[in-house]
Amino acid sequence: MEKIQTKIETGDCLEILNHYPDNYFDLIITSPPYADSRAKTYGGVKPEKYVEWFLQRSKEFLRVLKPSGTFILNIKEKVDEGERHTYVIELIMEMRKQGWRWTEEFIWHKKNCHPGKWPNRFRDAWERCLQFNKSKNFNMYQDNVMVPMGDWAKTRLKTLGKNDIVRFNSKVGSGFGKNISNWVGRTMAYPSNVLHLATETSNKSHSATFPRMLPEWFIRLFTKEGDIVLDPFLGSGTTCEVAKELKRSSVGIEILPEYVKIAKESVKEDQFVLFEKRGKYERKIKKGHNKIRRTASRRVSSKTA
Ligand SMILES: C[S@@+](CC[C@H](N)C(=O)[O-])C[C@H]1O[C@@H](n2cnc3c(N)ncnc32)[C@H](O)[C@@H]1O
Repeated sequence: MEKIQTKIETGDCLEILNHYPDNYFDLIITSPPYADSRAKTYGGVKPEKYVEWFLQRSKEFLRVLKPSGTFILNIKEKVDEGERHTYVIELIMEMRKQGWRWTEEFIWHKKNCHPGKWPNRFRDAWERCLQFNKSKNFNMYQDNVMVPMGDWAKTRLKTLGKNDIVRFNSKVGSGFGKNISNWVGRTMAYPSNVLHLATETSNKSHSATFPRMLPEWFIRLFTKEGDIVLDPFLGSGTTCEVAKELKRSSVGIEILPEYVKIAKESVKEDQFVLFEKRGKYERKIKKGHNKIRRTASRRVSSKTA
């Protein structure tokens, strides 16, 4: 297996990704700045401009993701004038036009969300984790996220009816069937698409950190050791930190230097020149090197003259 590499870049992901080759990353997982909601801390994009702003970047994500890769987008629409804004729904529709497949929607249930009272709604205890793919056939390592069967299995599987033993095709003709007897004697089962995770309490001076378990679950599900993960809106560095612990290489991009500093303190970057860049970038580096060489040789020749 190749050496695990971690790289944290400073800047707008739109520009930084321009230096990366096509079909490069195995997983992109991110939580972008939400429309306007955190204007005080890291600038917001107006809800009515959000789709346009995001699409420019998702075009780059589409280019750098491998055909076998997955993009997980953690997002939730804000409430505007008493109703939910529709930009996430519009974004899904536009991303499909851009070439993405909207494969699945996972729900992150925030087990410890803030208590509160509003006249027209209850407290918001969940966020979307939208799954997009480039193709129908993507890598998914389902066994990596199996969960203990739990107590329901003990009672449910003790007394199996005849419909549980033969594959029972749904009476409504949906074509879906089940054979529950397959699960007798098993201790582990596949999870559902609802993740019950507490929000992070030690937030490393960043106002919107992921709980570590969130990137961890998706990294386990969609990558194997040695694969490369991208978080284009890195914040405090959670994705790169977790990726490194799971022996995956990663690139994180963050626009604000103060968050880059926090990220670099949480995850040690490798000291080698990492990740091959695209031709344009290489040319830029070469040009830079040549300039340094030219200046150095001028200095040498003026000394020797
Ligand atoms: C919701 S936070 C991500 C938090 C992160 N998941 C964590 O665990 O810390 C979004 C981050 O995206 C950064 N950001 C905003 N616009 C960006 C851009 N164009 N390119 C890169 N980063 C950007 C913000 O500064 C912010 O830190």
